[in-house]
Amino acid sequence: MKKKMIRVLGIESSCDETSVSIVQKKGEEIEVLSNIVKSQTDIHQYYGGVVPELAARAHSDIIDKLIQASLDEANLSFKKVDAIAATAGPGLLGGLLVGVVAGKTLAHFLNKPFIAVNHLEGHALSIKLEQKINYPYLLLLVSGGHTEFTIIKGFNNYKRIGTTIDDALGEAFDKTARLLSLGYPGGPEIERYANLGDKEKFKLPMPLIREKNAHFSFAGLKSAVANIVSKNRCTEKFKKDMSASFQETINKIIFRKTQNAIGEYRRIIKSKKELKIVVAGGVAANKSIRSSLKQLAKLEGCEFLFPSIKYCTDNGAMIALAGIERFERNKFNKLNFKPRPRWPLDKNAIFMKGKRAVEG
Ligand code: KG4
Ligand code: ZN
Repeated sequence: MKKKMIRVLGIESSCDETSVSIVQKKGEEIEVLSNIVKSQTDIHQYYGGVVPELAARAHSDIIDKLIQASLDEANLSFKKVDAIAATAGPGLLGGLLVGVVAGKTLAHFLNKPFIAVNHLEGHALSIKLEQKINYPYLLLLVSGGHTEFTIIKGFNNYKRIGTTIDDALGEAFDKTARLLSLGYPGGPEIERYANLGDKEKFKLPMPLIREKNAHFSFAGLKSAVANIVSKNRCTEKFKKDMSASFQETINKIIFRKTQNAIGEYRRIIKSKKELKIVVAGGVAANKSIRSSLKQLAKLEGCEFLFPSIKYCTDNGAMIALAGIERFERNKFNKLNFKPRPRWPLDKNAIFMKGKRAVEG
């Protein structure tokens, strides 16, 4: 019997990467035929963070070219694509509008289904671009915009068990880097400096560390760094020691909160199978976080899976893949679907920003 083949073109434009990809599923085999990514780092680096208006303009300047480039790289015409998927939230509204309008326009004129994808679902499923994994598993998403633990019980069945009540982890890295006059994005810069510094030099607070839940808070940590910076000369040595101390503090927080999340997962999911934890998002590139989680794996008897960096950071392939999963279940969207700047993966999760994290 001939294996069923599905090809979806996925568009990502929710933050500061414009990306278009074509992913194919033949039987159970998933193949990324193209994944074109244009980062806007060069535009935002002067400001030390993403400027929404500039991001939207840059997406709109390039989206049509990336769509063509993704077809060229896959060596396909539109005729061979079954559906168009676009990130419709959460993210910056201007960027989302660019990708969603491009996706809807293509779907309308090509007479193909349109699929509105939740960006977080893309991250949650991204590991499947490279390896097979069975449900359920735990997702730790740590990016510039998101920090959360979510149990991926099955497709479209998500339970968030931890989140940040203020800054995202990547944001904390970026803000700290800015305080130390390091480059943008801040994460890789902090990591580079941290390798050369003394991690015991500065004692920094670990907000919410004593609470036996999987929620995070990073705003106080950043304020503590700002306070120390204001009292010191920002020499190269100071930057190295502060980067090392900051990264070490983050490692301790992630270690403890992941331990709490594992406990919570095991209370909810009664399974004898080895727990797999997928770590996605730009911060998952950090080598010291990776190695401290590997220590935790030994302690807890679980396995951490890291998608390749190109699928950890924002990319169209994970959106196309989420599109394929939706296509298989006939989950299409009407062309009047509006982008959603706020769109939690778990519909029942309470909005925690600015709230005090409480157990349960
Ligand atoms: O997932 P991503 O590419 O974009 C979104 O935010 O969606 O994540 C970008 C974030 C930035 O905040 C960046 O500073 C952080 O990931 N990052 C890192 C490292 N590489 C990127 N943080 C810590 N260590 C790294 N090596
Ligand atoms: Zn992302």
